[in-house]
Amino acid sequence: MSGVYVVTGANRGLGRAAAEQLLIQGKLVVLGCREPEPVQARYKNRPNAIVLPLDVSDELSTMHFGHVLIQQQRTVAALINNAGVFLEHSEDFAGTPNLANAEMDLIRRTMETNAYGAIRMYQALNPLFEHGARIVNVSSGMGQLSEMNGGWPGYRLSKTAVNAVTRMLAEETSDRAMIVSSVCPGWCQTDMGGAAATRTAEQGADTIVWLATHSDLPSGKFWRDRKEIAW
Ligand SMILES: NC(=O)c1ccc[n+]([C@@H]2O[C@H](COP(=O)([O-])OP(=O)(O)OC[C@H]3O[C@@H](n4cnc5c(N)ncnc54)[C@H](OP(=O)(O)O)[C@@H]3O)[C@@H](O)[C@H]2O)c1
Repeated sequence: MSGVYVVTGANRGLGRAAAEQLLIQGKLVVLGCREPEPVQARYKNRPNAIVLPLDVSDELSTMHFGHVLIQQQRTVAALINNAGVFLEHSEDFAGTPNLANAEMDLIRRTMETNAYGAIRMYQALNPLFEHGARIVNVSSGMGQLSEMNGGWPGYRLSKTAVNAVTRMLAEETSDRAMIVSSVCPGWCQTDMGGAAATRTAEQGADTIVWLATHSDLPSGKFWRDRKEIAW
């Protein structure tokens, strides 16, 4: 495939790690970032890195991102919907919100980025996907219905919702042989995961990149550590 590999939220954390693994593989990578300037400076000597402004919670921004790629006559080999927020973060478990005291605005804002952002990106890039293109939705075990517990309702709902998006897109894109996946990266050392997390961002990015590049994968599945897991 000659198309680009789009990574959202590529300036730090898992998005940065995934983008860098793809760059090392020699892929042409489009790094979508809310603040592109420092990222453009970081990759100024990497001809296969294209840095564009992108806020996945903003429809004008996602449509503009798509139009830039259309103007550049790009096609898309893979879209990695990585950009995410964990707005209900609390230092101690006792302070964790549950449904009884959840702030509805936090739930709405979390959904705008983590779930609706993936839909906006699909709509913006839909004309550009190659036959057999990949969509990788970075989800979480916290969105797994089979393991669902209490706490952090906005984050959990957003990840369950993006898993539903994966299933719907798998059906909707089957005529183009596209492969749409959800992935749980595990608990990773990023700003979101914190320093106590059990794996590095590079380890977390491994299955994300594998799903974006590996051939012969089934569509519409949920993965962790290159193995299928339950929804
Ligand atoms: N770390 C973990 O343990 C873990 C576990 C399971 C799942 N995940 C998922 O993995 C993904 C990446 O998480 P992370 O740990 O790398 O988090 P992170 O270090 O907090 O990074 C989040 C990234 O998302 C970007 N972002 C947030 N809102 C955005 C928006 N509206 N538009 C564009 N970019 C936006 C951030 O950009 P700014 O710099 O502009 O804020 C940043 O680049 C998320 O979807 C997260 O839910 C993480």
